[in-house]
Amino acid sequence: MRRVSIGLLGCGTVGQGLVELLSCEQARIRNQFGVDLGIHRILVRDGEKPRRGIDSRLVTTSAMDVIDSPCDLVVELIGGTHSAGAFIRRAIGLGRHVVTANKALLASAPELFSMATLHGVRLGFEASVCGALPVVRVLQHGFAGDSIESVRGIVNGTCNYVLTRMEEDGLELPEAVRQAQARGFAEADPAFDIGGVDSAQKLRILARLAFPNLPAVKVETDGIGAVRAAAIDAARERDSVIRLIAEARRVPGGVALSVGPRVIARGDPLASVREENNGVVIRGRASGELLLTGKGAGSMPTAAAVLADVIGIVAGNMDQAAVA
Ligand code: NAP
Ligand code: HSE
Repeated sequence: MRRVSIGLLGCGTVGQGLVELLSCEQARIRNQFGVDLGIHRILVRDGEKPRRGIDSRLVTTSAMDVIDSPCDLVVELIGGTHSAGAFIRRAIGLGRHVVTANKALLASAPELFSMATLHGVRLGFEASVCGALPVVRVLQHGFAGDSIESVRGIVNGTCNYVLTRMEEDGLELPEAVRQAQARGFAEADPAFDIGGVDSAQKLRILARLAFPNLPAVKVETDGIGAVRAAAIDAARERDSVIRLIAEARRVPGGVALSVGPRVIARGDPLASVREENNGVVIRGRASGELLLTGKGAGSMPTAAAVLADVIGIVAGNMDQAAVA
C-alpha cells in the first residue's frame, strides 16, 4: 500500500468538506486504488477557530509548515490570487503536485500550467469549474475526435440559486444572496458571483480547453445585479426563465466569450437547471450537443471533484491535467 501525504491549504467550506469526504471514502480508496491518502498539515488563517472533525495538531497558520515539509501533493483551497498564487508557485517549484479549485487564479495566471509541466508535476483543476461536474475531463478527453463549436452553460451556483429563490419564493436579490452565502456557495466577496466575474473566469478556463489555439476576439461580462422580480414575472408570462448564461462560441478569427442574464424558453435544457446546480451544453461539429448537469457549488460536491483529481494524480490514472 502506497502512503500519500497531502498538505492542505485552507479549511473552509471546501477544505472542511475534503477532510470529511476523505475520512468517509478512505477505506474504499485504499481497496480500489491501492493508495492510503492522509492529510499531514492544514493551513488556516485563524488558528483559534474551532473546527469540527479536524485534528487541531495538524492545523498551522504558517504556509511553509505545509508546503516545505515533506508531502506528495498540495491541495489549495484558500481562494484569491495573491497568497494562493505564491503558495502554488512555491509548491510546484519544490516538485509537489498541486490540486486547486481556484478559478480566479487559474483564469489570471495560465502560466502555472507551463510551470507545472516544466517541473514535471501535475496541476489538477477539475473543481475550479462547475463543482462536481467533470466538465474539464470531458473537454480534455471526450472531444479529441471532434471540433467544438460552442460551450454554453450555467457555471455559477450562487447566481442560479439566487434566481431560483427569486423565481420560486418571490425573494428579493439581497435576501437570496444572504441565503446562498449561508449555504457556502458564494465567493468570499459575493460581488464576484453576482457581477458575473466568477462565471467569466470559469468561461476563460473552459474556452482554453475547448479552443486551445484560438484568441478571444470579443469578451462581454454582465451579472444578475439588475435583475428584479418584475423581470422574472415577465419571463414567466412568456413561459421562460432568467438564467445567468456563459457562452464561448467559435466565430471568424477566434472565440467570442459572453456572460449575462438571458431570458430562455422553458424548453431550453438549461431552463430546468435549478438551485445551485450548473449545466453545460457542449456542441461538437460532428457529435452534436452534450449536456452535463449537477451540483455546481457547495462543500461536498466540490470536495468530490478535488478528491477525484488527487486520486487521479497519485494513482497515475489521469492524463496530465495541465493545459498550455
Ligand atoms: P472559504 O470557506 O472562505 O475557506 C477559505 C479557507 O482558507 C479558510 O479555512 C481560511 O482560513 C483559509 N485562508 C484564506 N486565506 C488564507 C491565507 N491568506 N492564509 C491562510 N489561510 C487562508 O472558501 P471556500 O468556499 O472553501 O473556497 C475555497 C476555494 O474553492 C476558492 O478558490 C473558491 O473559489 C473555490 N470553490 C468554492 C466552492 C464553494 O462552493 N464554496 C466551489 C468551487 C470552488 P480560516 O478558516 O481561518 O478563515
Ligand atoms: N461561488 C461559486 C459558485 C463557487 O457559486 O458557483 C463554485 O465555483
